[in-house]
Amino acid sequence: MTTPAVTNDLLPTLPSQLSELNEAQLNDFATAAETSIAQALDMTTLQSLRVQLTGKKSFLTGWSKQLGKLDSHDKKTYGGWLHQVRSRIQEALTSQQQHLEAKALQTKLEAERIDITLPARGAQKGHLHPVTMITQRMQQFFVQAGFNVATGPEVESDYYNFEALNIPSHHPARAMHDTFYFDAHYLLRTHTSPVQIRTMEQSAPPIRIICPGRVYRNDSDQTHSPMFHQLEGLMVTESSTFAELKGLINEFLQAFFGKALTVRFRPSFFPFTEPSAEVDILDDNGNWLEVMGCGMVHPQVLTNCGIDADKYTGFAFGMGIERFAMLYYGIDDLRLFFQNDLRFLKQFS
Ligand code: DAH
Repeated sequence: MTTPAVTNDLLPTLPSQLSELNEAQLNDFATAAETSIAQALDMTTLQSLRVQLTGKKSFLTGWSKQLGKLDSHDKKTYGGWLHQVRSRIQEALTSQQQHLEAKALQTKLEAERIDITLPARGAQKGHLHPVTMITQRMQQFFVQAGFNVATGPEVESDYYNFEALNIPSHHPARAMHDTFYFDAHYLLRTHTSPVQIRTMEQSAPPIRIICPGRVYRNDSDQTHSPMFHQLEGLMVTESSTFAELKGLINEFLQAFFGKALTVRFRPSFFPFTEPSAEVDILDDNGNWLEVMGCGMVHPQVLTNCGIDADKYTGFAFGMGIERFAMLYYGIDDLRLFFQNDLRFLKQFS
């Protein structure tokens, strides 16, 4: 808003000589000043009015300077009038300032007002990742069967990932693991089996643990991902047998898939179990699907962990969690689990 030229437009044109003024003129001047002050709609305008009406170059100040030249009678008369005018102008300025401030505050409060009667935006409920849900489903069975959940580091040493599991450096089984190495000693664990070693080193039998967790292999296609999940199991007692292992795995598979399944134990080889087997289930189309590896813990592995292999026996098993998730949900591309595409993930709520 532009500042109105107060002295020219709104105020009566008055003589600059004090002695040429009378009381009525000064009254009109004060009234006109009050009117223009009341019309100032913002602080800038009001401030410039203040300068024009009461500042060094104002009529009022100019007249007041002339008081000294008057005789004592006139000085008293004019002095009284000018004092009146100045007081009225000051008062008008103050009151308009207060009015503008109150109005500004009101506007601000209204602009910032929060309408608490509006309906809330509503929190969107998320859900667990399908791999997490499948992990929990697997865990649930084994926890009910008396197994504890163990964990281990994902950055592992060559010793725990291979050596202690009976896989020495020259062993061909190493080539199958597509290992991500950091240096000669450290790597990203290629399976959850090192947790077997860590557990047996730290606790005495009877041992019953499962270990779900991330594992890493330098491999990527429709059924392989460089990071995936395994669930490891280990039981060591004075009387663990292969029959017990078969019974447990059978029970687990029926419980997990929630239906009667045909299960087959096929002889296989793992350096850390003897004998070793691979477990297959028969699908609706008559195909055998491999779902896990297992076996009796190799006596050398027990010995490596300070467990008396003459007194104790154990069995172990390991399975890919994504593989179970794919079978359970009927998904044919493993990579879907890691692409974070909400159109895929929302189907599991
Ligand atoms: N660690 C094996 C792998 O990643 C899976 C495995 C096989 C785990 C047999 C076991 C086992 O505990 O007994 O291929």
